[in-house]
Amino acid sequence: MAEFRTTSRSSNCVLGSVFSVLRSALLLVTKTKPLLVSSAIRTGRTLKTLGNLIARSGNVVKPTSISLSNSLFTRSHKVLLQPNASYRAAVLHEIAKPLIVEDVTSTTKLKDLEVRINVYTCGVNASDILICNGQYGVDQKMPFVPGFEVCGEVKEIGPKVKNFNVGDRVIGLKKDDFAGFAEECVILEQDLWGVPQAMTFEIGASLLDTYGTALLGLHRRAEVEADDTVLVTAAAGGLGLAAVDLAANVYKAKVIGVCGTEDKASLVRDKGAFASLKYQAKNLRSKVMEVTEGKGVSIIFDAVGGDIFNESLKCVAHEGKVIVAGFASRQIPNVSTNLLLPQSFSLIGVSLSHYRDANNEVYRQVGNDVIELYEEGLISPHISAVFTLEQVNAAIDFLVQRKSTGKVILKIR
Ligand SMILES: NC(=O)c1ccc[n+]([C@@H]2O[C@H](COP(=O)([O-])OP(=O)(O)OC[C@H]3O[C@@H](n4cnc5c(N)ncnc54)[C@H](OP(=O)(O)O)[C@@H]3O)[C@@H](O)[C@H]2O)c1
Repeated sequence: MAEFRTTSRSSNCVLGSVFSVLRSALLLVTKTKPLLVSSAIRTGRTLKTLGNLIARSGNVVKPTSISLSNSLFTRSHKVLLQPNASYRAAVLHEIAKPLIVEDVTSTTKLKDLEVRINVYTCGVNASDILICNGQYGVDQKMPFVPGFEVCGEVKEIGPKVKNFNVGDRVIGLKKDDFAGFAEECVILEQDLWGVPQAMTFEIGASLLDTYGTALLGLHRRAEVEADDTVLVTAAAGGLGLAAVDLAANVYKAKVIGVCGTEDKASLVRDKGAFASLKYQAKNLRSKVMEVTEGKGVSIIFDAVGGDIFNESLKCVAHEGKVIVAGFASRQIPNVSTNLLLPQSFSLIGVSLSHYRDANNEVYRQVGNDVIELYEEGLISPHISAVFTLEQVNAAIDFLVQRKSTGKVILKIR
């Protein structure tokens, strides 16, 4: 049986200007560049206490904000060679067939920049399902272990790993070759972020992919501000709920969420949306115009595609921005570019995993910023269900049946 859990938000007090000064000083010391969070901070949603900031400078900044190329925290590296051990993993042997939980042999030797981690939790994501069903657009070799959003503890480090050591708690994104639905996985140092002791492994596996993508889309690409009205589709899904949380609670924008059921709509309102609607593609425009008093929305964050995307375009205000973030409907819309002209709106794509190679500094900083926003109590990921590794097929089914809200997590250890 799945365990159902909900996270809750703690209250924050506003120490905007004090925090800005202290944060600048802190960032100077740690040589990081605040690419994304700075304007969120300017919105006034800041730290809980001054003590919190000082504590964080000791406990958290070191693992989350060091530059990989210019580490301030170079450590001695002891490579622990493992014997040919085995571990449990959920393995796909044939496309569109259930995963089989079985013993898999560990790789004996790590490459220079690889880190072996004991996986405690792994997020279950739409990409896992697509790849298991042969719909990911790659010719996947078998056997294959899905799962890319892991959280766990470092077990062993490669000879040139600088920023992590055995025992560190880490979040990893392993989008190039997956393998996270397992007790152990090997991941490149550049895809790992350190996490504070206080963060649970469940939260660690529910943050970076969704909040990172939403932060890139809303902040970096669409430059969301407090006076924006943001329409989020699939608003109760993993990505959608992260977009609602960020837009409403960090950027203080007015959010309208669209989703499949009244229960989901209620969750979206609880998360901070000013209005949430059950989708009915045919009257989406009239509903949105009703709640925006005829103005339409300045930003659309879409993770559904298909008819919902096409209908949502009719809701965009003059000079609006439309973020294309995903295709939960599996229908990729074709947009006639003449549609862009009357409202002079912009279409914007966003893919977190592609930033890894295209702009690695931003990729790293997004991860740091999401972790920091969580620590400051500004965002609160919602986990609707936690399954064990043995229940992996039930976890996938839970998502496929659209029963989930927010994130679904595999608890592996
Ligand atoms: N760009 C990126 O970097 C990035 C990052 C993460 C995810 N994504 C993509 O974004 C999309 C959503 O991801 P997610 O993590 O939010 O997934 P999710 O947690 O499974 O949520 C998706 C939601 O989409 C809604 N939906 C609408 N039409 C659907 C349909 N025909 N089939 C299934 N669901 C439908 C469902 O909510 P209702 O029942 O309320 O309709 C569902 O809960 C996926 O395509 C994913 O691959 C992209």
